[in-house]
Amino acid sequence: MPDENFLLSPKELVSRRMREEKKHHKSAVFWFTGLSGSGKSTIAHGVEKELFDLGIDAVVFDGDAIRSGLCGDLRFSSPDRLENIRRIAEVSRLFVHNNIICLCAFISPLHEHRQLARQIIGGDFHEIYLSCPLEECERRDVKGFYKLAREGKIQGYTGISAPYEVPLHAALEIDTARRTAPESIQLVLSHVLGIIKS
Ligand code: ADX
Repeated sequence: MPDENFLLSPKELVSRRMREEKKHHKSAVFWFTGLSGSGKSTIAHGVEKELFDLGIDAVVFDGDAIRSGLCGDLRFSSPDRLENIRRIAEVSRLFVHNNIICLCAFISPLHEHRQLARQIIGGDFHEIYLSCPLEECERRDVKGFYKLAREGKIQGYTGISAPYEVPLHAALEIDTARRTAPESIQLVLSHVLGIIKS
């Protein structure tokens, strides 16, 4: 009698379904888009902490961290931004198949950027649009980059001298100018739990 396990391809020995059953939740990619300063990283990390407290494994990928490593060779031209999104979408696809929730925080300013991520990730892709107005992002100017962009010291800055195309198919939209960070985190958390616990 052949050993049944031996007949499986090695990569099937621990399947996504087995992981989901063991952890009692599904996995998904939540893709935060919005201007710099709209709160993508803050909310993604807040949601990560809430999930951690519930015993659910999640990982945050955000522009600043990824661009210092995996995408350190890329800048902010349109093709470079597209390549940035492509790489992170491919990484997220690997993670989500291992039942890890991915919280991706990237400006991803153009429809084609989000479309590419959606295409790579497939049905696991869920878009969250943080619709904070430019004036508020600029007022926050956490990194001082808006000021530099206004002075012409940073070229092609999203919202100032490079476009941001408002998403048309976001599953969830939150105007972070009208809510506190904890409120926004709770809204996203219930959206996430509604999907992964369904
Ligand atoms: S994306 O457009 O490719 O999705 P990403 O989210 O990785 O951008 O990186 C955005 C971060 O890079 C911003 O929060 C900001 O700190 C920094 N940054 C530096 N130059 C620019 C620029 N020209 N446009 C937008 N963000 C920039």
